[in-house]
Amino acid sequence: MSLKIAVITPGGDAPGMNAAIRAVVRESLKEKWKVFGVYFGYQGLIEKNIRQLNSRSVSGIIQHGGTILKSSRCEQIKTDSGLKKAISTLKELKIDYLIVIGGDGSIKAAEKISKYIPVICIPASIDNDVFGTDETIGFDTAIDTAVEAIDKIRDTATSFERIFVVEVMGREHGFLALSCAVASGAEIVIIPEIKYDLEKIAKKVKEDKNKGKTSEIIIFAEGSGNPQEFAIKLEAKTKIPTRVSSLGYIQRGGSPSARSRIIASLFGEHAVELIKKNQKNKVVVIQNNKVKSLDIKEVTNNEKQIDKHLLELIQNLA
Ligand code: F6P
Repeated sequence: MSLKIAVITPGGDAPGMNAAIRAVVRESLKEKWKVFGVYFGYQGLIEKNIRQLNSRSVSGIIQHGGTILKSSRCEQIKTDSGLKKAISTLKELKIDYLIVIGGDGSIKAAEKISKYIPVICIPASIDNDVFGTDETIGFDTAIDTAVEAIDKIRDTATSFERIFVVEVMGREHGFLALSCAVASGAEIVIIPEIKYDLEKIAKKVKEDKNKGKTSEIIIFAEGSGNPQEFAIKLEAKTKIPTRVSSLGYIQRGGSPSARSRIIASLFGEHAVELIKKNQKNKVVVIQNNKVKSLDIKEVTNNEKQIDKHLLELIQNLA
């Protein structure tokens, strides 16, 4: 079977995306398929920014963050005319399969494309907000990056005996925040999925101080509101100097961890395996360390839930 595959990395980049591109390209070339890279995400599909890739196109990229295929936020793909243009590019080039390496939003757009061209999705996002997979490519690296920064913040928090509100990414979800909080030994975590109670938090912080705690780290997921406003209110209630540190885009960059690279390589390999088996419109996932796939509709029709056990753990260990 001689196939034409297109690979794309829309939306927020995640460390390990390059490892996934490499795996997709090399596994496809092994089958003697033609592989095309779509540049700048869905915008590139609309504007026909596409080039053929070979084995050398993906040399020396496994250790690099970001995406060699570039990315963009593309509002146009959400419109009927944008979708039509993207489909016509794929049809014009006689693409048999589109492999989408991206997060929740990219998979939702892929589901629309799948009505016209078969797609296989590979979850990649620092947010880890894709239903059905224990982990997305890049999540592990982002936790490491954030925790390294939080450890440094802890040093100055302890020296000044201050409260630090550390804002982490995650869009409207708290998966990244929860894992960062466990790994950094944070005292409190605030996530969008659970409404916070300022009175309770202030009480806990004061109790901690009375017990001899010399610093307080509060991990604040970006989707939970304004961390500055929160810090001002908390300081007013506790009378303890409170500072905010937003980690921002450093969480998206950097060399992928070994785990992100391994998951990315396994996901890329599995995507090609699915195509070899004539499967279509699937999302590659990892569950209990096993790589498998789910129907794209199952993924887009469901919401991933936060792990309540992690929340309890943070409370119990703080
Ligand atoms: O989805 C990844 C992510 O980094 C989110 O955590 C964040 O909310 C968003 O992307 C930022 O998007 P942009 O790059 O468009 O500013």
